[in-house]
Amino acid sequence: MSSEKTFRIALVGCGRISKNHFEAIDQIDGLELVAVCDADPERAAQAGAQWNVPHYSSYEKMLKESKADVVTIATPSGLHAEQGVAAAQAGKHVVMEKPMAISLTGADALVHACDKAGVQLFVVKQNRLNLPVQLLKRAVDRNRFGRIYMASCTVHWARPQEYYDQAPWRGTWEFDGGAFMNQASHYVDLIQWLMGPVESVMAKTATLARRIETEDSGVAILKFRSGALGAIQVTMLAYPRNLEGSITILGEKGSAKIGGTAVNKIEYWQFAEYDDDDKQVDAAETNPPNVYGLGHQGYYRNVLAVLRGEAKPDTDGRAGRKSLELILGIYESAKTGREVPLPLRAQV
Ligand SMILES: NC(=O)c1ccc[n+]([C@@H]2O[C@H](COP(=O)([O-])OP(=O)(O)OC[C@H]3O[C@@H](n4cnc5c(N)ncnc54)[C@H](O)[C@@H]3O)[C@@H](O)[C@H]2O)c1
Repeated sequence: MSSEKTFRIALVGCGRISKNHFEAIDQIDGLELVAVCDADPERAAQAGAQWNVPHYSSYEKMLKESKADVVTIATPSGLHAEQGVAAAQAGKHVVMEKPMAISLTGADALVHACDKAGVQLFVVKQNRLNLPVQLLKRAVDRNRFGRIYMASCTVHWARPQEYYDQAPWRGTWEFDGGAFMNQASHYVDLIQWLMGPVESVMAKTATLARRIETEDSGVAILKFRSGALGAIQVTMLAYPRNLEGSITILGEKGSAKIGGTAVNKIEYWQFAEYDDDDKQVDAAETNPPNVYGLGHQGYYRNVLAVLRGEAKPDTDGRAGRKSLELILGIYESAKTGREVPLPLRAQV
């Protein structure tokens, strides 16, 4: 047992993704789950029984009563900002599932509330931690591509109508957003994390097959501030299953594609100059049990290191805001039919 301080975590939102959080917290010495909450009392009770912690159906009550240092928020996206602000005001650090909010107003309120309360804000972007993605990031940072000409991102996944029908918040503008905001948001995050600031975006979105308010498919064309061009194409209608979740970078001295179903596999990796990282390419393939990947544990290791003052956050609120801004720029362009410059001028 480590003699260092243990941080106590309360989680709100005991749905699909909560399992990844519970398991990650359970496996890390130094983190301890102390309470769970879900608006559905049965779900709350079930999670409480499984992890042997008190359960709540009122978030306010949990904030007041539990002795947590950290609150993890894994509720529908449209609730994130408000619940995050409440956690910060209660003096808790915040681990926020993606997207951190569904509007910039919400994201800014959250960032400011955490700053004001002097608490950390972590936005879960676990795909950044996939080994192939880490190798790609290092190749970019070491300038191995030379000048980068193009970056593209493909998310060809399958989400049947039953997936959207599982919960009333899915596919709504008020609580979710569409394929860009929800399912493909990690990919929008990766492309801007790897390539740097986006200067402008043009996009088309469509609801081609699912009975939802938001888009099930879309394409976006990006111009990066570096001059490079980019494209993101997303659909939740791939037949018959998740086929590809990939990112490709093409530069003057290198080409690399990280693919598989969820950026878990190096498809090609060619550089003019050798680097010791090249030895890791074959071993870098991971085979996650689902497209959420295995990254939540790595993510929480960083959370613990930050809380102990030993590291900087992998993705803090300001980093999370950048990818949200690009998603909102994509939506703005799709809505207006115009090219949208970034940063966004008006608050959306
Ligand atoms: N990082 C990832 O890869 C990843 C993967 C899946 C989902 N997510 C994100 O996690 C969040 C939850 O997604 P999910 O698939 O687990 O959804 P879900 O519908 O399975 O779970 C959400 C849970 O929140 C509960 N809830 C709703 N309103 C509440 C309230 N006011 N107070 C307390 N509980 C409330 C619901 O009863 C439900 O159990 C979403 O924001 C989603 O974008 C992230």
